[in-house]
Amino acid sequence: MSLLIRGGTVVNADRSFRADVLCRDGLIAAIGESLDAPADTRVIDAGGQYVMPGGIDPHTHMQLPFMGTVTSEDFYSGTAAGLAGGTTMIIDFVIPNPGQRVMEAYRQWREWAEKSVADYAFHVAITWWDDTVSADMESLVREHGINSFKHFMAYKGAIMADDEILVNSFSKAGELGAIVTVHAENGELVYRLQQKIFDMGITGPEGHPLSRPPQVEGEAANRAIRIAEVLGVPIYLVHTSCRQALDAIIRARNEGQRVYGEVLAGHLLIDDSVYRNKDFEFAAAHVMSPPYRPKGHKTDLWHGLQSGNLQTTATDHCCFCADQKAMGRSDFRMIPNGTAGVENRMEVLWEHGVNTGRLTMSEFVAVTSTNAAKIFNIYPRKGSISVGADADIVVWDPEASKTISAKTHFQKIDFNIFEGMAVRGTASHTVSQGKVVYADGKLDVRRGAGRYVERPPFAAYYDAIRRRLEHERPVPVRR
Ligand code: URP
Ligand code: ZN
Ligand code: ZN
Repeated sequence: MSLLIRGGTVVNADRSFRADVLCRDGLIAAIGESLDAPADTRVIDAGGQYVMPGGIDPHTHMQLPFMGTVTSEDFYSGTAAGLAGGTTMIIDFVIPNPGQRVMEAYRQWREWAEKSVADYAFHVAITWWDDTVSADMESLVREHGINSFKHFMAYKGAIMADDEILVNSFSKAGELGAIVTVHAENGELVYRLQQKIFDMGITGPEGHPLSRPPQVEGEAANRAIRIAEVLGVPIYLVHTSCRQALDAIIRARNEGQRVYGEVLAGHLLIDDSVYRNKDFEFAAAHVMSPPYRPKGHKTDLWHGLQSGNLQTTATDHCCFCADQKAMGRSDFRMIPNGTAGVENRMEVLWEHGVNTGRLTMSEFVAVTSTNAAKIFNIYPRKGSISVGADADIVVWDPEASKTISAKTHFQKIDFNIFEGMAVRGTASHTVSQGKVVYADGKLDVRRGAGRYVERPPFAAYYDAIRRRLEHERPVPVRR
């Protein structure tokens, strides 16, 4: 069956125009004025609405085993919740335990993700190093459609990557034409500060931001960027949360380095006062890393997004319910780190970005899908309303209002960090692979309908960077 989205305004990252959109066999088959509906076509009346590429959330953690528990949201419920908010693709993370074969972890995550109802891809984390890791990176890029490797510079004693791992992995990624991504926090400093603050008798969630000040993020961001610069590999910083990290990104971009920055909807809208709330459950529900920051950082992050120094928005969707957060009732270091948002990212970005005039509609599309598709090399298949692209589309009603609440959201978590936020502008219909999967507030999804999306490497372009660096520098860096 075909689908015709009739009478709307198509909004892409470069322009918007009035057009109908015809979807057939999972792809966009035609875009134009007054398109005919072939027999057996479902028609959506999009009059007065915007027709935009479905959102891509480039940072989620479904079904993640982490800090002694497993996230409450799995790939089925999490991708469904995304669809309810207009997000049609996620990029999740394979995170091997240190010492675990990377390929084994990759296969495990692929199996877990088979129940997804929307398309997905993976970044693969490098948490340790030996020759098998290097070999697995190679086969992941060459044979399994992975083009990004993640490095946690925090979480000492668990998945933290030290400088030796970073240098080994960044070098290998560069050779393979893959991009490196980092969670930038100095894990050693966090560890020491956690200990110090706990020993001072601060045991509640208010200790969390005290142990992870912006300086530890700024230091790690700058270090990772400079390592990437020396090794000639493009780098993407996930969840940039503060001015110090943003400054490091801007500095490097101004020097011609290929550096990208992601910002979370939560970091744009929430400040660190949440951790001083006397209600443990409320404060613990906001424990995530890097933490929410003092108010001024939000303004800086918005400016980063507006100026193009930050290119993508994500959620770091990582759900833990109150009973799981309670693991850290007497020690903030044991509170599982993570918050939700895959369902709400598009609407809170629209409300606080487009409705406030901070972002144009096209910029909204760029930061919610197109830029991620380009950076992770799946454009224009994803992130664009164009003939031949996947028919992953959100029909956006700019006049529909709602108040966000855990009582009504689809996300499998008992808390919503945006609780009570009124938004005007939300998904009326979400289309995944040409099928209407969300309409009139109801989901109509099929377990396993989501596909694994392979992402090719950027080899030729990366070779050019390395050739230039070798020319500019007398001593090329080689392992
Ligand atoms: O607190 C967070 N962000 N939890 C998920 C893991 C990570 O650091 O991204
Ligand atoms: Zn992180
Ligand atoms: Zn994360």
